[in-house]
Amino acid sequence: MRKNLLRADSALLSYPIREVVLIGKQLEQLGNFSMIWENIGDPVSAGEAVPDWMKAITQEKISDDKSFAYTDSRGFIEAREFVLQHFSSEKICTIDDILFFNGLGEAINKILNNLPREVRVLMPSPTYPSHATAEAMHAGCDFISYALDPENNWEPDLEEIENKVKYNDSVVAILVINPNNPTGSVYRRETLEKIIDIAKQYNCFLIFDEIYHHMTFDGVEMTYLHEIIGDMPGLSLKGISKDIPWPGSRCGWVEIYNAEKDENFRDYVKMILLAKMLEVCSTTLPQVILPHLYSHPEYKSYLASRIRKYERRADEAMAFFAKIPQVRMNKPKGVFYCVVELLDLPRAKLDAKNKAVRLFLDKLEAGSVSDDFQFVYELMGSKGVCVVPLTGFGSHINGFRMTLLQQDDAIFTETLEKIGEAIVECY
Ligand SMILES: Cc1ncc(COP(=O)(O)O)c(C=O)c1O
Repeated sequence: MRKNLLRADSALLSYPIREVVLIGKQLEQLGNFSMIWENIGDPVSAGEAVPDWMKAITQEKISDDKSFAYTDSRGFIEAREFVLQHFSSEKICTIDDILFFNGLGEAINKILNNLPREVRVLMPSPTYPSHATAEAMHAGCDFISYALDPENNWEPDLEEIENKVKYNDSVVAILVINPNNPTGSVYRRETLEKIIDIAKQYNCFLIFDEIYHHMTFDGVEMTYLHEIIGDMPGLSLKGISKDIPWPGSRCGWVEIYNAEKDENFRDYVKMILLAKMLEVCSTTLPQVILPHLYSHPEYKSYLASRIRKYERRADEAMAFFAKIPQVRMNKPKGVFYCVVELLDLPRAKLDAKNKAVRLFLDKLEAGSVSDDFQFVYELMGSKGVCVVPLTGFGSHINGFRMTLLQQDDAIFTETLEKIGEAIVECY
């Protein structure tokens, strides 16, 4: 090539949830074994059956020629109407303030890429990597963060948020993921209200990723951004990857709140819409189907039974890890993940499946690999279980995130036991 094709900031681009899979796949081949995949939040690939009524709606809608057409750049009008009525608030949002994207992954990139390079969005740590990577790529340097505190049920450190906003006037927005990936926490209303107060005091807007809004455990209250935002500008991000669940649809949306209350904010969200217009629109079919899926008479009980399973898995994981002194786990209040901290994690090598696996791991770990990545590589190479290292979520804390999606009770118990053996052998 006549020119270098690699951007100077290319090292900032990473997505460990999937990167770990590439390594896992190579280990499977070298060791001739089947990995238990506990890394990705996709209920369907974890084996959850798609109900027949969902397939019937999809079949019906695909036989309508309109499903093959482009739709409005903002999104299919009936889907936007449904979202506005059921998940949003007409007091602070109109039908034109709802924008559909090909998955929230796309929305996240549009939200960050359309900000001027010199302004920053304050992110949680740990965080969902797409947010952190998009922020880092947008700014051309590491993302900036506030801590979620494992000693306080992974609640946000409010003092840190306030200080980071107060002393860095390039911060224009605060991101909150509620219910939270990776920690599974669902924040208390007072916590969220305090974050809104901080944003108000320093004239920032709010970005709440609420993609897991339907996934809270029994008795846990979900506080929506639209209930507490008042007259502040903000964005709520939701989608159908987790609750329907249809992650392969690549369908998510942004609800813009109080767009007209601030001139700068209004101009910025116009840029997001223009960026979407340049691509014409998002995929029509899932938007056509969306209202029919959510309002089907069987949807509520189907969702409730899934959530009961995740809570059962969370309880089992809690009871299991409580017996291991070297780890700490907070019980999730929702979502389908749990995070296990590895306290004072030593660097140790475990018995690999065979020599080829050992050689591969040695080479991999010879580079600058953080302690929990090394643990996860050893766990894969010795016990055949794939989880995601916590430092891969932009955290300084060693640990891992596993999913609660496993369909088979016995395999879930076996997975916990394998992880437990690896921890004991490691310390
Ligand atoms: C917090 C969070 N936001 C956004 C996404 C991306 O969702 P989508 O499938 O709509 O791109 C995920 C997916 O795991 C997520 O966990």
